[in-house]
Amino acid sequence: MKALHSLKKRIEPFPRVRLAHLPTPLEPMDGLSRRLERFNLFIKRDDQTGLAFGGNKARKLEFIMADVLEQGADCVITWAGVQSNWCRQTAAAAARLGIKPVLILFKKPAFRTEYDGNLLLDYIFNATIEVIEAEADKKTMELADVAGIIEEAAGKERRLGNTPYIAPIGGSLVEGSMDKPWGAIGYVHAFVEIFEQMSSRGVQIGAVVHAAGSGATQAGLLVGAKILSPETRIVGINVSEDNETMTRYVRSIADRTFELLDLDMRTGEEDIVVFEDYLREGYGVFIQEVADAIALVAESEGVLLDPVYTGKAMMGLLDLLQKGYFKEGESIVFLHSGGTPALFPYREDIITHLDRTRAATE
Ligand SMILES: Cc1ncc(COP(=O)(O)O)c(C=O)c1O
Repeated sequence: MKALHSLKKRIEPFPRVRLAHLPTPLEPMDGLSRRLERFNLFIKRDDQTGLAFGGNKARKLEFIMADVLEQGADCVITWAGVQSNWCRQTAAAAARLGIKPVLILFKKPAFRTEYDGNLLLDYIFNATIEVIEAEADKKTMELADVAGIIEEAAGKERRLGNTPYIAPIGGSLVEGSMDKPWGAIGYVHAFVEIFEQMSSRGVQIGAVVHAAGSGATQAGLLVGAKILSPETRIVGINVSEDNETMTRYVRSIADRTFELLDLDMRTGEEDIVVFEDYLREGYGVFIQEVADAIALVAESEGVLLDPVYTGKAMMGLLDLLQKGYFKEGESIVFLHSGGTPALFPYREDIITHLDRTRAATE
C-alpha cells in the first residue's frame, strides 16, 4: 500500500535510539467481547514495551532520547506528579544511555510519597529526585511556577558542569529543549503497527480508544490514522484535562507533527474526539468504577490495567459501549498504555472497594 510505504519512509530518517520492544502484541479480547456480545474488542499491548515495566513513554523516549544525545546533553530534567510513569521510564532510558536523570515531582496533599510504585522505581534508578508540594486544585501542567522551578534545576546542573536537556512533561508539548514533537512521532509509528496488525487479520479499525494525559499519544495516533485510515476514530478518554484544554494540546502537537513529516495536512475540529466525563474529581483521584473496570478486565482477560490512566480509559470505553456510541459489530482497539506500577500505591482503595462489591455478590 502506497500511503503506508510513504509514511514509513518519512519516519525512517528521524534519529532514534532503540529502547522499546516493538512491535508490541495486538490481541483479541475474547473474554471481554463475549461478555459484551455485540463488539469485537482488541487490545494493543503497549504495557509490554519493556523499559522498566513498559508503557507508552518508551515509544516517545526512543525519539526524545535521540534528541538528547544529538544536543550533546548529559543530563535530562523533567517533571510530573509523584507517581509519574513518564518520569519512571525517562529515568530508565537515561540510566540505559548513561545520562543523569533529574525528576521534579509535584505532590498534591492527597498523594503519598513513600517509596512505592513508580517512585520506588525512580529511586532504584538513582534519579535525582526533588519533591515539591503543589496546590490541591491545580493541575501539574498548569502550575504557574513550574517554568521557574525547572529553570532553577537546570541552573543547578549547569553549575555542576552538566549539560541539561529539559524534556516537557509527558514528552508531549513542544517546549523546553524539545523543539519538535518527538513524542508524537513515536505514536504515529504505533498507529503504523496497529494498522499493519489489524490489516493482517483482515479487520478494519473502527476506533482506537486510549487514555489522554498530556496529548502526544492522541496526536500521534490521529496523524497516523488521518494518513492511513481516515475512517478510524481516535477516542481519547481525558484523565487530567477538560475537553477544551486537551483539544488544544492535541491539535497543537498534531499540526506540528504533520509539519515535521513534511505533509501539507492539518487537524480539523471533527478529528479530535475527547471525553472529559470520566475525569470526575480529577487526575489520579481514585474512583470506584475504575476499580470495577480493572477487576473486569483482570477476570475476563488476565490483563492488568492501572487506576490512573488505563483503568479510567476502560471505564470510559465500557460506558460508551453501553450508551451505544459505537456501531454494533465495530472493531475497537483499546490501547493499553501501561501505568501498572501505580496499582500498588492505590492498594487500599482498590481492596476496600473490591472486598465490598465481591461480598455483596456472593
Ligand atoms: C500509562 C499512561 N497512559 C496514558 C498516558 C497519556 O499519554 P499522553 O501523555 O501522551 O496523553 C500516560 C501519560 O501521561 C501514561 O502514563
